[in-house]
Amino acid sequence: MDKALLSVLTGRTPERRPIWMMRQAGRYLPEYRKLRTEVGSFLELCYTPELACEVTLQPLRRFDLDAAILFADILLIPQAMGLDLSFREGEGPVLGTVRDMGGVEALDGGDSVLDRLAPVTDTVGRVAAKLDDHVTLIGFCGAPWTVASYMIEGGSSPDRRTARLAAARGDDWFEALIDRLVSVSVDYLSSQIAAGAEVVQIFDSWAGDLAAAEFERWSVAPVARMVAMLKERHPGVPVIGFPRAAGLGYEGFARRTGVDAVGVDASVPPRWLGDVLSREAVVQGNIDPVVLIAGGETLDRAVDRLTEAVPARRHILNLGHGIVPQTPIDHVERMVARVRHNDGRDASGC
Ligand code: CP3
Repeated sequence: MDKALLSVLTGRTPERRPIWMMRQAGRYLPEYRKLRTEVGSFLELCYTPELACEVTLQPLRRFDLDAAILFADILLIPQAMGLDLSFREGEGPVLGTVRDMGGVEALDGGDSVLDRLAPVTDTVGRVAAKLDDHVTLIGFCGAPWTVASYMIEGGSSPDRRTARLAAARGDDWFEALIDRLVSVSVDYLSSQIAAGAEVVQIFDSWAGDLAAAEFERWSVAPVARMVAMLKERHPGVPVIGFPRAAGLGYEGFARRTGVDAVGVDASVPPRWLGDVLSREAVVQGNIDPVVLIAGGETLDRAVDRLTEAVPARRHILNLGHGIVPQTPIDHVERMVARVRHNDGRDASGC
């Protein structure tokens, strides 16, 4: 079998529609929960290559997926730049803050950041050596805006108002922070590619927070700079952009940033993905994670609408956002089986 994900991303017709799920390694899997309890700390999992490799592979053992995504987190970069990071049960991440030029200047850069992230690169190499031939390995990082928002807020925040205010004002220190993140993130993705990542994804989970002009300046422009640098260093390695909840901003995002595929959230109608967006870029998404919890015919109908609307050669079937812990495992099996069934029945989908 070919590597279906890589085929779609490089303009070839895949042998089947590629499928993977954002956050596919995680708490909805009992084997993940068991290991996570034994190890005690999420960060320890991320920084222990043997364990991170094991967790990366767990969903592939259960489901017929076309990609593995490195087990790590977008907040490892700010931690490697010198901010304290911890994950508290039920609270999410707690991160040191940056809110002025002094804070930006105090951040570490260059080789020391990559040195701290070396265990993650090590994980990439281990996973690459273990994957079946048809499975593509995805590396990732957060987009500058999304990572900056966590650094400014000091973790999760209901509306990210302090970060949005800095973005709206275009404060000098905020611009300097985005620039630092562009350069560190490119080096980090580059190291993942050198270790064996075949595709990289840039998660701009909070892109939808930004008003149109700010979206252009703080999501599109930094991602475009990252893609240009990556394409220069690694021509031929596809990049997926995920400007979550971008709304009308999805149109033209690939053209303006140079990404090879655009991840879309569940609010976007499948018809529009098929008729409009998939003509300018490969589309990744967009089953609602809540519909995956619902399962049954609700899920079947959502899968059918998507596979009917978007041709397999322009589509990476995924969720509109990460899979959530209460998702029943048999619903994931059902989704994958339904996609395979639909594509088998209607070969013209390819
Ligand atoms: O399977 C995979 O997708 C690979 C691993 C991965 C994780 N986080 C593991 C994780 C990836 C790609 C991410 C990306 C990530 N991390 C994003 C972007 C995607 C998105 O969901 O929007 C963001 C915003 C983060 C930051 C983050 N990490 C938060 C806010 C939290 C706490 C909330 C939560 O879901 O627990 C995390 C923790 C986290 N990252 C877990 C996992 C498996 C749970 C940690 C645990 O086991 O306790």
